[in-house]
Amino acid sequence: MRRKVTVVGAGMTGGTMAQRLAETGYVDVVMIDIIEGLPQGKALDLAESAPVVGFDARVVGTNDWRDTAGSDVVVVTSGVPRRPGMTREELLNTNAGIVREVCQRALEQSPDAIFIIFANPMDAMCHVARDVTGLPRQRVVGQGGMLDSARYRTFIAWEVGCSVEDVHAYVLGGHTEATMVPVVSTAMVGGIPLTHLLPKERIEAVVQRTRNGGAEVVSLLKTGSAFYAPAAATVAMVESILLDKKRILPCCAYLEGEYGIRGAYTGVPVRLGAGGVEAVYEAPLAPDELEGLRRAAAAVQELVAVIK
Ligand code: 2OP
Repeated sequence: MRRKVTVVGAGMTGGTMAQRLAETGYVDVVMIDIIEGLPQGKALDLAESAPVVGFDARVVGTNDWRDTAGSDVVVVTSGVPRRPGMTREELLNTNAGIVREVCQRALEQSPDAIFIIFANPMDAMCHVARDVTGLPRQRVVGQGGMLDSARYRTFIAWEVGCSVEDVHAYVLGGHTEATMVPVVSTAMVGGIPLTHLLPKERIEAVVQRTRNGGAEVVSLLKTGSAFYAPAAATVAMVESILLDKKRILPCCAYLEGEYGIRGAYTGVPVRLGAGGVEAVYEAPLAPDELEGLRRAAAAVQELVAVIK
């Protein structure tokens, strides 16, 4: 029997995720949205691509939570995206209400699911999801670091003039311009420290572009936010869970003392496997990077405290 993933929200990100998941061939996908016709239309269109692409996965679009029953993973993309000039934080209360409701409804149908939170402001939405579901930290994880690290790796590869595949670099901390921590001290390209390959000011430019990565896309699209890289980043997390790959990936996890941080969701390297967040790793960081992580944790705690 194929595994089952529910994607909540049939917008650009949800739709792209559904496509990537269905095309793996080993996952049945349910796309759910409150807008009538949207998930059904996208699911039908996607299902009709199956003979050409060559997958047998079922793709269902629905407005009925019962269709999501028994999902192994639930990805929450629903919520309002940013418009040009907006910060992710400005979405706080609107998206908190949405995330609260969808997590509750999803858990009723899929009591064993692992939740991946993508809605913004992502770090705070992880807290909302954890609070409303009462799940342990293994089963509520946020997607932000994966995406920011993908952007960081892309910009490094462009700057060095090498394959993206040879860049190993991570963005930890928060998923906001101010709180993300693109880690320079351990960034490597083909086994060579990044600091040996690029001068300080070029690294600084790459770090700055990474921080601004989401806003750069928003300012170009004007009517929404990024979805190709976010979808790819999320699907890598789903795969690591469903295939029990135990990849070590930069994700937003609830910290219980790691890095001197307690009671906050922050981006850190975690091991993602069948059990969800199976381990949280404490990476060696430069003092300013560690400080950045702690600032990110304090910022998300402040944000969570003002959610209505
Ligand atoms: C981004 O950074 C949507 O938060 C997402 O593009």
